[in-house]
Amino acid sequence: MKPIALITGASGGIGAALAYVLAADHYNLVLVARREDKLKEIAEDLKHRFETHCWVVPQDLNEPNAAQKIYDQLVEKDVHVNVLINNAGLGLRGKFTDQAWENDHQMLQVNMIALTQLTKVFVNDMLEQKERNATEEVRLPYKVMNISSLAAFQPGPNMAVYFATKAFVLSFSEAIAEELKHSGIHITTVCPGVTRTDFLENAQLATPPQGRYTDWVTQSAEEVAQEAYDALRQNKRVHITGGVVNNLSATAASVVPHKYLNPLTGWLIDNIGGGKDIW
Ligand SMILES: NC(=O)c1ccc[n+]([C@@H]2O[C@H](COP(=O)([O-])OP(=O)(O)OC[C@H]3O[C@@H](n4cnc5c(N)ncnc54)[C@H](OP(=O)(O)O)[C@@H]3O)[C@@H](O)[C@H]2O)c1
Repeated sequence: MKPIALITGASGGIGAALAYVLAADHYNLVLVARREDKLKEIAEDLKHRFETHCWVVPQDLNEPNAAQKIYDQLVEKDVHVNVLINNAGLGLRGKFTDQAWENDHQMLQVNMIALTQLTKVFVNDMLEQKERNATEEVRLPYKVMNISSLAAFQPGPNMAVYFATKAFVLSFSEAIAEELKHSGIHITTVCPGVTRTDFLENAQLATPPQGRYTDWVTQSAEEVAQEAYDALRQNKRVHITGGVVNNLSATAASVVPHKYLNPLTGWLIDNIGGGKDIW
């Protein structure tokens, strides 16, 4: 029996790359995002390559109660998720006072509220599954991967709401990992650095094609997905992708006084977004 993983934001970028990594490791998948055509394309390809069974669930996570709607649809089909991957997310560069409230609200809703509600309904279901299947011989994994960001480790002037949402994801996930440590359900938080996906253009952090980012400070979606999956398999609590540069950046954020760090971060975000060749 193949375990089932649900991936949000599976229509592109890191989420789509994760779908391929998990399919290759014998998972069946629930693919969630707004673009149904993209999800169906990926599902068809995964079926062809890995004989993966995919349930395509088109859902806007910006809608209130989106997580419960997804859960109810799956329960109706008697689909129970073993691994939840909260990957969908969006960011937007710009001064807080210049941003439309609708954009801030969407970031809060998708990056935090939908992620939190998905975690609640699916972790509770995992606890019930574990009880129901306690006597079964085949042991299925029960895990959650929450995608945060390097942005979680410091405030982000000129991208204040996005950075704060990612700090929330890290704090929330670490806390429930501790609460659940004797339950057999593992929570892994993954913090990618700059990753070459549509996120950069959508967040106005890059001008096409993916601005002036050079490879040494960035990763591909496939690299991030493989590292994230390895961390999940090892039940790591927190994993910063991208090796030494990103780990140094996270460490620096915890030791450099914020009165120095904040202006530097604000300047970097402002200038990256302007597409200037600063790397
Ligand atoms: N790229 C980076 O530099 C970077 C760095 C650190 C962390 N991250 C995090 O990594 C995660 C994945 O980002 P990515 O780089 O792969 O970005 P991406 O290529 O833009 O993909 C974002 C995914 O989220 C989905 N999504 C966005 N809004 C949604 C909504 N309202 N409802 C449902 N799905 C929605 C999109 O699907 P639809 O458009 O089809 O709905 C898409 O599949 C995000 O949480 C992001 O914050 C990215």
